[in-house]
Amino acid sequence: MTAPLVSTFRERFSRFFALSQGGDSVREADMEWWKSFFDADYARLWSELTPPARTEQEAEGIWSLLELRAGCPVLDAPCGFGRLSRELALRGACVLGLDISSDLLTEAERRCGEIPDEQLKYVQHDLRYPVSEGGFDAAINIYSSLGYGREEDDIAILSTLRTAVREGGRVFIDTMHRDAFVARRARGAQIAQRLADGTLLIEEPQFDPVAGRVDTTWYWSGPKGSGSKSASVRLYTITELVKLLTHTGLTFRSAHRGYSPEPFRAEGPEGGGRVGLLAERVAR
Ligand SMILES: C[S@@+](CC[C@H](N)C(=O)[O-])C[C@H]1O[C@@H](n2cnc3c(N)ncnc32)[C@H](O)[C@@H]1O
Repeated sequence: MTAPLVSTFRERFSRFFALSQGGDSVREADMEWWKSFFDADYARLWSELTPPARTEQEAEGIWSLLELRAGCPVLDAPCGFGRLSRELALRGACVLGLDISSDLLTEAERRCGEIPDEQLKYVQHDLRYPVSEGGFDAAINIYSSLGYGREEDDIAILSTLRTAVREGGRVFIDTMHRDAFVARRARGAQIAQRLADGTLLIEEPQFDPVAGRVDTTWYWSGPKGSGSKSASVRLYTITELVKLLTHTGLTFRSAHRGYSPEPFRAEGPEGGGRVGLLAERVAR
């Protein structure tokens, strides 16, 4: 997005932009921004951005990519408001969803419906620390859930996933990555979206190519109110992500076009789009 366009947005939405002015970047101010970012506003806005049809398609892709079967234990870490945990449980997996956000876990429980406890369970947990339960067939980390803090935090999170799966079990991550982000920016990708309830959501990202981080603020206004929230995310390259997986003792198996079983290809205006990385805990 070009500078004049940004200033046009600033003029139009000055009262929203004003909310975030006058301080250091999110990164300098708070490397643990994610502890308050994922609240009830996030659940409401991001539910609209991930409608049921999209989540069903994602669950279908994960199901076939990981060759899941009814009854197999799956760790959804982090699970957010449980959109994928629920879909995978409905397909027959026994899902444990872990997340640090109490607001999102409350929303996940609310959406649980009639699914029994032995099929779908949610627990509050900081993924930088190991889980007591192990023996999962698969552990998933979906929708750009890495890069929030420091690199050692991501290594700790991936180590948690590695030790949670049995030998021969698989770890799958799905994320935005640096090449795709840069490709999107180069073609001036859309930063404003109108949600189904009429809310206008605008994102203003600032990319630091040296740190490899994007500091981004979302502003929204609509019938249910207005506000803003800021985040700072490390955008790893696929090469760096594979190194992180390997560093935690996982064996990298394959790179995919997001959740699809199709191989990843760095082609097209989206730079190949989101990437899905499949790794295995190999017996030693
Ligand atoms: C972008 S959301 C994705 C959630 C879910 N995977 C999905 O697809 O909707 C990222 C989630 O990571 C959680 N999170 C971030 N850091 C965490 C940590 N250290 N431990 C547990 N959860 C964490 C947040 O609370 C949030 O729910």
